[in-house]
Amino acid sequence: MNYETGFGLLKGKKGIIFGALDERSIAWRVALACKREGAEFALSNAPVALRLGSLDALAEETGASVIPCDVSKEEDVEALMLKVKEELGSIDFILHAIGMSPNVRKSKPYEGLDYRLMQQTLDISAVSLHKVIRYADETGILNDGGSVVALSYIGAQRIFSKYSDMNDAKALLESVARNYGSRLGHRGIRVNTVSQAPTITSAGSGIKGFDGMYTFAEKMSPMGNPTADDCADYCVSLFSDLTRKVTMQNLYHDGGFVTNGISEELMQDLFDLFESKQKGE
Ligand SMILES: NC(=O)c1ccc[n+]([C@@H]2O[C@H](COP(=O)([O-])OP(=O)(O)OC[C@H]3O[C@@H](n4cnc5c(N)ncnc54)[C@H](O)[C@@H]3O)[C@@H](O)[C@H]2O)c1
Repeated sequence: MNYETGFGLLKGKKGIIFGALDERSIAWRVALACKREGAEFALSNAPVALRLGSLDALAEETGASVIPCDVSKEEDVEALMLKVKEELGSIDFILHAIGMSPNVRKSKPYEGLDYRLMQQTLDISAVSLHKVIRYADETGILNDGGSVVALSYIGAQRIFSKYSDMNDAKALLESVARNYGSRLGHRGIRVNTVSQAPTITSAGSGIKGFDGMYTFAEKMSPMGNPTADDCADYCVSLFSDLTRKVTMQNLYHDGGFVTNGISEELMQDLFDLFESKQKGE
């Protein structure tokens, strides 16, 4: 058994993976890692994303079915859970890798947010986690000992100006995870968020100033930014039984970014900038 062939960590487990749009998507990489580890799962995305993206190719590669669901529609989420029940029976894990801010897309400044759009940001990116867990629970498909993972970002704790109302959405997402983790713990069901470093994906690159956020994190983190594949392996570990008592946590997956004050590389950059300013360059 090795890293390429997997460790059989998810053998016999079933799940739902939300949010794979194209090959760069974190959810796409998680799906491949789950397949490698022996899991069976359904893939889901919004109908519009299914038309634009290339999910069928992933479905074929992993043997998964594709179930459309716009997570902002409660009836879609309930219908999806019933469909999963029909196709897979009960499940052991859920990946929530969904995020979208129309305000960020339209480059609205935080001080000038469109509140109607902000409702959509919060609904799609955070309240959707509540709906997903609620209907997985109400339809009785989530097994005892299961694991739910949602992807977050450090914007929930520290403010990144270009991340705008997504900072608020991630704070709410993490709160929903804690609240449900508290309520489902008696059944051994874990609910955690993984706070991933900037990653080059469709959602990531859609943020104005993303390059700056990416480079800053890359230079600040002692290990550099982890990739989507690195994140996928971390998610696999959280779906596995090896982490059965980890719940209600926001887990940083960022190469050390969150704990580092400043790195030598950034110090040098600042020093060089200061010197060139002194010289009037
Ligand atoms: N890329 C990064 O830098 C980064 C860093 C930390 C956390 N994250 C988070 O990771 C998650 C996945 O994002 P990604 O970077 O892989 O980008 P991505 O664009 O590949 O994935 C975002 C997904 O959300 C889906 N989505 C949007 N609206 C939806 C709706 N109404 N119903 C159902 N699905 C909907 C999109 O179709 C897409 O598949 C998001 O929660 C994102 O905030 C990303």
